[in-house]
Formats: sequence, structure tokens, C-alpha cells
Amino acid sequence: MIDGFSFPPSGVSKDLKYSHVNAEISSLLSSDLPQISGLANTASVLKYGMGFFWVGFYLLTEDRSRLVLGPFQGEPACVYIPYGKGVCGSACLEKRTIIVPDVDAFPGHIACSSRSRSEIVVPIIREGEVLAVLDVDSETKDAFDETDQKHLETLAQNLRILFLT
Ligand code: SME
Repeated sequence: MIDGFSFPPSGVSKDLKYSHVNAEISSLLSSDLPQISGLANTASVLKYGMGFFWVGFYLLTEDRSRLVLGPFQGEPACVYIPYGKGVCGSACLEKRTIIVPDVDAFPGHIACSSRSRSEIVVPIIREGEVLAVLDVDSETKDAFDETDQKHLETLAQNLRILFLT
């Protein structure tokens, strides 16, 4: 049962904000939760807790040829991204987190909103296979660093619980 959302205290460091938000998300996750609900609540807590412009998930299709838009918070976004294309498809192919400080400088970046200026994409990987990616966008350039990477990779590991079947 969700009893309201607790925002991180104001004026604390990004590191502490993430710790608060990740703990909040952990309390919402369990293996018997429908995947769509767990991902939707995660996107919400991350967007509102951290104040991001856009937070969402792209899920691998069954034939693994492309990614399809999953639960998100923010403006409407592209529905399909080919495997290996854009930041999301590249993170899948390379099986690693990609930080893009300036979206205009990333060859092949797929622009869903002209307001997005930088982004970080973190793959959710189980047994060597990418299951989905978490995509976080900011309206300012150079918004993401190793602190974001550390906490979002921890979150991505915790989210594997939603992909057990
Ligand atoms: N920019 C992403 C596409 C998704 S939107 O940012 C929501 C990409 O290049 O893969």
C-alpha cells in the first residue's frame, strides 16, 4: 500500500537525494508486482523525487530487433527505437551506461523532445541479456555524471526483480 510519496529533503546533495529516492523505490518493488506497475511507479518517483525532465523505460521486443516505449513520466515520446540506434539502442548493443552531455553532439541521437539537452541511459541486464533500458533526460546540458550513473545502475539492478518471468 502506498501511503503518499516522500520527497527527498530540500537542499541536500544529489547523492543523498538519490539514496532517499532509491530507498523509496525499493519499498515499492516486489517480485509479485505487475511489471508495468513497478516500472510506472519507479518512473514517477524518479521524475518527481529528482526533478528530471523525462524518465522512462524502453523494453526489448520479443524478437530483440527494437525497443518499445514502456512506462514513463514526461512528454510523449517515440514508440519504437531500432536495436543499436539512438542512445537507448546503443546502450543495449554495448550493454553499458551511456551519458550524453550534449544531445546535439551524439551522432544518431533520437530527439523525442527539442527541450531535452542531455541524457543518461542505463541498461537493465540479467544473465548477460539486456531486458530494457532506463532513460533519463534533462533540459540542461551536462546534467549527468558518475553520481547519477552509480545510483541509476543500482536502481537498474533492483529493477531486475520485475523481470523474473
Ligand atoms: N533520445 C533517445 C530517445 C528516447 S527519448 O529521449 C525519450 C535516444 O536517442 O535513444
